[in-house]
Amino acid sequence: MTTTTGTPAATGAVGTGRSRVEGRDKVTGAARYAGDIPFTRLAHGWLVLSTIARGRITAVADEPVLAMPGVLAVLHHGNVPRVNADYVGMLGRPNPVVGLFQHDRVPCAGWPVALVVAETPEQAREAAEALVVEYRAEPHDVEFRAGHEGAYRPEDSSMVRADADKGDLPAALDGAACVMDEEYTTPEEHHCTMEPHAATAHWDDGRLHVTDSDQGSSWVAAELATLFSLDPASVRVRSEHIGGAFGSKGVNAHQVAAVMATTTLHRPVRVVMTRRQMFSLVGYRSPTAQRVRLAADADGRLRVFEHEALNLTSQVHEFVETSAALGRVLYDADAHSTRHRVVRLDVPTPTWMRAPGEAPGSFAIESALDELAERLGMDPIALRARNEPATGPISGLPFSSRNLLACFEEGARRFGWADRDPRPGVRREGRWLIGTGTAAAAYHSGVGRSTAAVTAEADGTFTVRVNASDIGTGARTALTLVAADALGAAPEHIRVRIGDSDLGHAMIAGGSTGTRSWSWAVRLAAADVRERLALGGAIPPEGITARSDTADAIAALPPQERHSFGAQFAEAAVDTGTGEVRVRRLLGIFAAGTIVNPLTARSQLTGGMTWGLSMALHEEAVRDTASGTHVNADLAGYHVAAHADVPHVEADWVDDPVPGDPVGIKGVGEIGIVGVAAAIANAVWHATGVRHRHLPISPDRVLRAAEGSTGA
Ligand code: MOS
Repeated sequence: MTTTTGTPAATGAVGTGRSRVEGRDKVTGAARYAGDIPFTRLAHGWLVLSTIARGRITAVADEPVLAMPGVLAVLHHGNVPRVNADYVGMLGRPNPVVGLFQHDRVPCAGWPVALVVAETPEQAREAAEALVVEYRAEPHDVEFRAGHEGAYRPEDSSMVRADADKGDLPAALDGAACVMDEEYTTPEEHHCTMEPHAATAHWDDGRLHVTDSDQGSSWVAAELATLFSLDPASVRVRSEHIGGAFGSKGVNAHQVAAVMATTTLHRPVRVVMTRRQMFSLVGYRSPTAQRVRLAADADGRLRVFEHEALNLTSQVHEFVETSAALGRVLYDADAHSTRHRVVRLDVPTPTWMRAPGEAPGSFAIESALDELAERLGMDPIALRARNEPATGPISGLPFSSRNLLACFEEGARRFGWADRDPRPGVRREGRWLIGTGTAAAAYHSGVGRSTAAVTAEADGTFTVRVNASDIGTGARTALTLVAADALGAAPEHIRVRIGDSDLGHAMIAGGSTGTRSWSWAVRLAAADVRERLALGGAIPPEGITARSDTADAIAALPPQERHSFGAQFAEAAVDTGTGEVRVRRLLGIFAAGTIVNPLTARSQLTGGMTWGLSMALHEEAVRDTASGTHVNADLAGYHVAAHADVPHVEADWVDDPVPGDPVGIKGVGEIGIVGVAAAIANAVWHATGVRHRHLPISPDRVLRAAEGSTGA
């Protein structure tokens, strides 16, 4: 065995379903979440958010509030220490909201303007609601729309390539048998994690300790150290159990507020967000306006693939929703043009949300492919097969593995696609029109530098330390299985420690990179330990520990197109009398490399698919243009798919070996949502003959479309 490849000695733990190692703790309530962990002398902070959408703070009337029961402090721009929010962190520049209370400007409604700290949460809330903040308001614009003036091309960065072009578009358009050119929109959507963001900060032994709920405590610790100009070694962030994150749980206003307050008050301070506050504080998925133009020969071969996607961002930070990136992976064409545009509005900064880019982008292009298939009189799967690229359509790089067509073949077989009558509007069951639809999915398979330590204990067990984050994915369990195979040991003999920045640097749980990134580090360290054990001799009382760092191994990866792929299938029933759409079944077949734990991987995939259903039919955050605030910033007004909305959802996978890849794991966190909204919209078209290019496909839209199609 060599330590450079980390090749495990297979014991079969990977690939065998296993329930969560912390499952019992979670269901019995023994697992404690960030907002639940007790501290002595704990004080409670309550954030106060701006009520105007643009302007300046002219006064914070803190004196009357300081006299209220239990109130300990009111922090605001007039009295907090300076922080350094001008830096480039692990994932780029921070959202400037982390430069908390640093100036009097208000760039959006719901911007944090003060923190009230009191002995109890009730006292803090009471005082926060009593705090009078005066503003000088300025005119604002929160209205996102296609063609909005001021839209611009963002700069290229390591995360975003704004535009990609190849071929001669006018020439390719010329003589095409079929051209389709349509616009699609998706609304503002929110993460809605079950567990609100919560952090407790305190100083102990000269170190700053933060108990948090985040998707990367190495990340949060490093950024807090930078913000407060601290030695990184003096900051410890722990995040043991996390009730969902989906892109929203990085460094944010609540941790910064808690650190400011504990530094002022010399006692532990906890800041928990309310559901309503989360709608403006933790980011969201930008609405998009997308134009897709496809031109094809009569046999379906694409001559033109053109996709332009517009999203909004705030006045203080640029965020690009990379909706047009997916087409650079999925389809080749003679002329290929994909572009991103951004417009700045007086709104909070959007951020990554489960399958950022791919989720809204797939709605547009996978709907467009279906429209093209309709116009060509082709089967939608055959159209995709016709345009399957041999290498990256833009990059020209080889795929590490692809297997998209295998997903379609297996999915079509199980779904019964061959029996489908392609004509729309011909299947009726009582008041329901029935249709089926499909869509392709892809999501990039990335990796981030991680370190790990594996200890062979004197009692024959093993301890694995890697600063993974289990945001509900089952990361602890997956890493237990990976370590078991790498060590040739039973999973029961392995304990995995995660969620503590003192464990050393590791990649976040984000971008579907976690399992791939952490497993690599674990396998390298495990291989090293096995080598040392193979030398023989007694294990000393402190055990034998090996450490790994994947930096060099990642740098040695050859350039390739690395992605997970999938085929989504949906059956929808539409009541054109009430406008109700009910999804009857969803099937997703994926090619996602090695599946570590089939039980939790399936749960990730069906969870993503359920979210795709929710995106297709329900989710839409609505702003009042006059006030700039949301009208539905709660889970009553912002509907996420609930149990009664969700039918039979099935996910499975095809074999997807990744030749030569040192890990073989691709990640399953995001691929599940990609394409689902399009598959459902395509099924709604098949049911009714009406195209829905604007999400969500809500009853009012279905009714209006039905009126339109009858000329009413
Ligand atoms: Mo996820 S949106 O990559 O945290």
